[in-house]
Amino acid sequence: MKALLANTAKAMATLTIRNLRDDLKKQIQVRAARNGRSMEEEIRLILAGAGDLPAAPIPPDRATPRQNMPVAAPETPKPSPHNAAQHRILLIIGGGIAAYKSLDLIRRLKERGASVRVVMTDAAQEFVTPLAAGALSGGHVYTDLFDTVAEFDIGHIRLARETDLIVVAPATADLMAKMANGHGDDLASTILLATTAPVLIAPAMNPQMWSHPATQRNLARLRGDGIQTIGPNDGEMAESGEAGTGRMAEPLEIAQAALALLSPATPQLLKGKTLLITAGPTHEPIDPVRYIANRSSGKQGYAIARAAAAAGANVTLVSGPVDLSDPAGVNVVRVESAREMLAAVEQALPADVAIFAAAVADWRVASTGGQKIKKGASGTPELSLVENPDILSTVAHRTKARPSLVIGFAAETEKVIEHAKAKLAKKKCDWILANDVSEESGVMGGDRNTIHLVTKAGVEDWPEQSKNDVAHTLIARIAKEIT
Ligand code: C5P
Repeated sequence: MKALLANTAKAMATLTIRNLRDDLKKQIQVRAARNGRSMEEEIRLILAGAGDLPAAPIPPDRATPRQNMPVAAPETPKPSPHNAAQHRILLIIGGGIAAYKSLDLIRRLKERGASVRVVMTDAAQEFVTPLAAGALSGGHVYTDLFDTVAEFDIGHIRLARETDLIVVAPATADLMAKMANGHGDDLASTILLATTAPVLIAPAMNPQMWSHPATQRNLARLRGDGIQTIGPNDGEMAESGEAGTGRMAEPLEIAQAALALLSPATPQLLKGKTLLITAGPTHEPIDPVRYIANRSSGKQGYAIARAAAAAGANVTLVSGPVDLSDPAGVNVVRVESAREMLAAVEQALPADVAIFAAAVADWRVASTGGQKIKKGASGTPELSLVENPDILSTVAHRTKARPSLVIGFAAETEKVIEHAKAKLAKKKCDWILANDVSEESGVMGGDRNTIHLVTKAGVEDWPEQSKNDVAHTLIARIAKEIT
């Protein structure tokens, strides 16, 4: 045994495990397997015992003391300014141009106190190197299902199990298809099949690939399987001149979504409840290139969707055109016009609670031609308008599949409460969240809001708070009402 220690210490000074002599490797493999440790850990412990090198820490949950084995004291994880608990995240980097952003994601996750293990697909290595990912994660980068040493050291099953969360970023169309269909032909897909940990994917691909029915079908399947998603965002693509939905969410957004999944700070007040939320403006076409719109940013509705999902609800968010990324764990249906919004809302029913935060255009152009309206001979065009369906009122008046709580917003510039009370009665909804959107209030497009909750029982004045806090206050109030 002494000879083994001495030889090992010497070998490790200069060589990687892969380069150890076969007989040594075999003995260490057997010891490591017997002790339920990786070869690397086993060698560290041997070296610590031999006194040649200080032992590197072993996470407390994996240090399995064994008789006669020198065991290094587990090091307390460094406190992080963001999150003191050390979450274990397995990051699978897929093969897309956005892979370079995943290097920053490693840094963001580590900044937040997570330990990050990295797996890269073959295609990912065409974009970034395992060396770069390893330098940032501070550990070995796993790439090959059929690498006997890596597989014996920390195989795919251990990679799948020894993690609190798997993040797939970028999740390419191919990786999503594999996941949706249960393929397991490489390390990444095998881990994803073998894991019981929650999985968060950050899709990234060309907009055409994203909107392709096959990708959308796979996405729906993955969501049905409980996979969480973040993004993709709208914007310019890496390919010059291409724009649309398909950009990977920013590393910071992904890191925040990952951490939110790992430490659900919000009590699961709405577990098992279904919420339907509308948000954003609508665009009413005038002709193929012009439309009527309004200044709604969608921030309040998105914050409510996020808070509802965090509280455990099953959330569908029907959103008009906004510049916001899909909240994690929310089923987002994007629409343009009021009529499309109504159709999507009816499709999403039944729901326990419906919250109508969208700023739906009151009118649309009566007849929109198929061609762009030209300046010239016929003078200034006159637009004739017709009223849009009132989505809130339509749902609140339903006799079948009416949500038990129907909530509207009343954005007013004067006589806020008076107008809200009138709306409550006219639209037959249960609650109205009234707010002042006069220019001085800065609510439109801003981050703060002062709400007056108008119910049949009276008016509750909420203090001025951020739109996020309004969302959490509303979710708590709904939970009190329906549970
Ligand atoms: O525009 P108004 O002040 O009537 O909107 C009040 C509420 O009605 C909001 O909750 C809004 O989302 C909803 N609404 C709707 N469909 C419309 C107009 C408004 O759902 N066509």
